[in-house]
Amino acid sequence: MKITVIGAGNVGATTAQRLVDKQLANEIVLVDVLDGIPQGKALDIYESTPVEKTDVKVVGTNTYDATAASDIIVITAGIARKPGMSRDDLMNTNSGIVKSCTEASVAQSPNAILIVVSNPLDVMSYVALKVSKFERHRVIGMAGVLDTARFRSFIAMELNVSVEDVSAFVLGGHGDSMVPLPRYSTVAGIPITELLDKAALERLVKRTRDGGIEIVNFLKTGSAYYAPSSSAVAMVESIVKDKKRILPCAAYLQGEYGLQDTFAGVPVKLGRKGIEEIMQIKLNPDEQAALNKSAEDVKQSIGKLKL
Ligand code: APR
Repeated sequence: MKITVIGAGNVGATTAQRLVDKQLANEIVLVDVLDGIPQGKALDIYESTPVEKTDVKVVGTNTYDATAASDIIVITAGIARKPGMSRDDLMNTNSGIVKSCTEASVAQSPNAILIVVSNPLDVMSYVALKVSKFERHRVIGMAGVLDTARFRSFIAMELNVSVEDVSAFVLGGHGDSMVPLPRYSTVAGIPITELLDKAALERLVKRTRDGGIEIVNFLKTGSAYYAPSSSAVAMVESIVKDKKRILPCAAYLQGEYGLQDTFAGVPVKLGRKGIEEIMQIKLNPDEQAALNKSAEDVKQSIGKLKL
């Protein structure tokens, strides 16, 4: 198993470190345009392996030769949000970056599975799909795992219970119109709608939607990377180990949930082939309307792309 991580910034380097700590590959290749950064971080991570008692080759590079024949490529390259910037503000810069990274990496690894992390997530996933010309089950966006992790954290904090017993559901785009679904979110199997009143639910849903900007406002010089890297690695793990976990991921939809030709966060089965199934759950009219609105926002952004 060989995994390439493109972008050796906060998300990329932390992803590489987590992949190594969990020994999810024999070889990890870290790529960045900055001279010395991927080389230095890769060497530093490799030097942690004798201490961590892991055994993974870690390589840093500014070119794509060493990425050849990767099984999975995680794209984190791009600029991160600063206070006052929406994910869409990133679109023009990051679409050029994601396009070039996709072209260069898939030329070396035509059979890889692409996991996109760069924002705006749904639009960047679309760029990677179109540029790679891969089948849709091999291009997957990381958003829902992070959004549900945030929702789960806030539910656990609110009820003062372990995160272990909290599961949550979020659909739609990774943006202001994402659709957290309290009805499908539970604590030890009990729907949170039974445990929290409407005002509390709305507060937690809003905090989840604003989860990214809450961190940006604290950090001021960048955006979140610990939970985003954990989330990307959870997806990688399900693929590498063929676990067939059901995770909310951004998938290219062709009629599912009544949506066409767009990426949206939906529950998918992740296994060795990538997306092995898109799970269709029943939505009530309000939830479907919220998902439609979220998908419409993503489509509008896709319409503005210059590929
Ligand atoms: N090829 C490879 N790497 C690139 C390229 C490129 N064409 N362009 C930029 N990069 C690198 C930068 O040099 C930098 O090291 O991408 C890295 C991004 O790292 P950070 O600035 O630390 O950003 P990070 O917090 O990692 O976020 C990366 O993930 O969560 C999203 O919104 C976030 O889009 C952003 C991305």
